[in-house]
Amino acid sequence: MTNITASSKVFGRRKGKQLSSRQKESIKIHLTKYSVFKSRADGSYELQKVDLTNLFGNLKDFELEIGFGMGDYLFQKALVKRTTGFLGCEVFENGVASLLTRIRDVNLKNIFIHPGNCIDLLDNLRGANLSAIHLLFPDPWPKNKHHKRRFFTTENIDKMGYALKKGGSIFVATDILEYAVQIISSMEKRTDFKVENYLIKEFKSPLGTKFQTKFERKAYASNRVPRYMVFQRVA
Ligand SMILES: C[S@@+](CC[C@H](N)C(=O)[O-])C[C@H]1O[C@@H](n2cnc3c(N)ncnc32)[C@H](O)[C@@H]1O
Repeated sequence: MTNITASSKVFGRRKGKQLSSRQKESIKIHLTKYSVFKSRADGSYELQKVDLTNLFGNLKDFELEIGFGMGDYLFQKALVKRTTGFLGCEVFENGVASLLTRIRDVNLKNIFIHPGNCIDLLDNLRGANLSAIHLLFPDPWPKNKHHKRRFFTTENIDKMGYALKKGGSIFVATDILEYAVQIISSMEKRTDFKVENYLIKEFKSPLGTKFQTKFERKAYASNRVPRYMVFQRVA
């Protein structure tokens, strides 16, 4: 996997189980084709403002998933919503490999990924008019001393607001009640977002299919109740 130039620190695991030769090959061949940013010879990325029309050709509707994990949700959404361009970012290289393999298998053309820090991507999506941002089971960092690592800070909510179009929504799921409460209370204080819905049962695709992610399955398996929230950008 290439080294990634990140503008800010990334916490958590970047590597897991040793990649298989199929996964390594998939990354090598397909990352260039499906990467949002061009890579340099040293393996870093040329971070620059993302031109979605240039990237996706004639598509006009765009969504982003932050921390797509193994790519289950992003892949399924892109498969059924072919007229929407999907962006995804993930720092965990096994997850990137897993998604790339699936994209390659069906030659999906409406996904581009950034295999690096979501902040680098968000900073280059200002004014991108996204219709949705999905954050499914963001790392909860349960210890008090680690709460500052959590994604939902004022600064990051601002960045999402700049990338979304007016009327666009942030979809969030977490199985940690205390984190859900923190997210809702941060969003309720804002005038640029309205709490459209929370504790809705599940996110459904336009076709009514339910796409479970790995961490969602883990939550149910451990009898933890996932909380689902939707926040709409209103200003
Ligand atoms: C708890 S996992 C959830 C994964 C997946 N969404 C799911 O529901 O199965 C959180 C994911 O966010 C990714 N992540 C954490 N910080 C990130 C960052 N700064 N940029 C991109 N991805 C990040 C992690 O690598 C991890 O895969």
